[in-house]
Amino acid sequence: MSKELIRLSDIVMSFDEEVIIDHLNLYINDKEFLTLLGPSGCGKTTTLRIIGGFQSPTSGDVFFDGVRINDVPPHKRKVNTVFQKYALFPHLNVFENVAFGLRIPRTEAVEKGGRTVSQKVKLPKQEITRRVMEMLEVVNLKGFEKRPVSALSGGQQQRVAIARALVNQPKVLLLDEPLGALDMRLRKDMQNELKRIQQEMGITFIYVTHDQEEALAMSDTVVVMDQGKIQQIGTPEDIYNEPKNAFVADFIGESNILDGIMRADGVVEIFNRKFQCLDKGFSPDEPVDVVIRPEDVDIVEEDKGQLKGTVTSVTFKGVHYDTIVDFYGFKWLIQTTDFCPEGSRIGIKIDPDGIHVMKKSQYSGLFGDYSSYSEEYDEIGDADYVPDEEEAESHEE
Ligand SMILES: Nc1ncnc2c1ncn2[C@@H]1O[C@H](COP(=O)(O)OP(=O)(O)O)[C@@H](O)[C@H]1O
Ligand SMILES: [Mg+2]
Repeated sequence: MSKELIRLSDIVMSFDEEVIIDHLNLYINDKEFLTLLGPSGCGKTTTLRIIGGFQSPTSGDVFFDGVRINDVPPHKRKVNTVFQKYALFPHLNVFENVAFGLRIPRTEAVEKGGRTVSQKVKLPKQEITRRVMEMLEVVNLKGFEKRPVSALSGGQQQRVAIARALVNQPKVLLLDEPLGALDMRLRKDMQNELKRIQQEMGITFIYVTHDQEEALAMSDTVVVMDQGKIQQIGTPEDIYNEPKNAFVADFIGESNILDGIMRADGVVEIFNRKFQCLDKGFSPDEPVDVVIRPEDVDIVEEDKGQLKGTVTSVTFKGVHYDTIVDFYGFKWLIQTTDFCPEGSRIGIKIDPDGIHVMKKSQYSGLFGDYSSYSEEYDEIGDADYVPDEEEAESHEE
């Protein structure tokens, strides 16, 4: 069973009366890989700094293992941080960079003649060597101990930074966009490495990124943030398949987001056509946002489609074509292996599980149209579209 390790309770952070973190509530389990994901400026780093103790919240509490730690300074928290700018000591070699923290004498409580006294304790040399070598093995840098860090690649330097943070045996590692400076290929390799290290060491990772692919690939739990607020917490699959609002749907992956009306449980109306869906529990005729992922749309012959539209652009992407289709003036992105040339008329079909219905929110109407993909945006769109009640009815069960 996973056990709660950290809890942020009703955290508010304001700078100059501006609210940066807005009543944030979150718990993090032991050995979990949790990612704070959101656009630049949404409050990710601030949240991490509050967990690390580098920043005191304006109000709210931070708990570690059930104990309130608001007033515990960073170096006394069982937490260590890896920053994007991992300042290694350039004049020290790999071994000494990792060993640095272990060489600092620690104040420890020891029993002496029946009394507890605090005393400076130094780690024995062999113990330092053992722990440094163990960490270098974990980050795949065995054999590099004598190298000056200046002679390492960016990826290798980042590994040294990770080893240095892990060598103190923290319960939790905080990582703030640690792969941000690396190129794409290296990022992907390091994502796998970090995941492996986290599992191998059995510790909790709290990871910050604005890169949704990275978050989905690595995390047990993703926390999507915007404007200092948590928008959704869930597994990568939850977040992708069941986004809570238009912000999450737009931020994670590609989404067509349309206005709809919930006509009944399992029936949503889009463009005056009724579609079967799996969503339930909305009020009768409630206006909703509807998410349709580009890969969930099937292209069929025009007269067999639930909707009919005109292809306005096609881009070959290797595995599929990014096909932009104009439906009554609203442009959708469809990802398909069927090539449909620009200008062709097509029909589409969407299975009930390809439709996801969401409550209206402050983000409604802001996202989800792919007009900017095409230069030929035509405001009038499909002018000869006439809502067809009869056809709409035929899609009801
Ligand atoms: N010390 C500070 N003083 C004033 N504003 C700050 C301070 N730290 C962060 N901010 C503001 O808080 C917001 C969130 O910042 P941050 O947590 O760094 O976001 P993120 O890491 O998601 O990009 C930003 O608008 C930033 O300008
Ligand atoms: Mg940041």
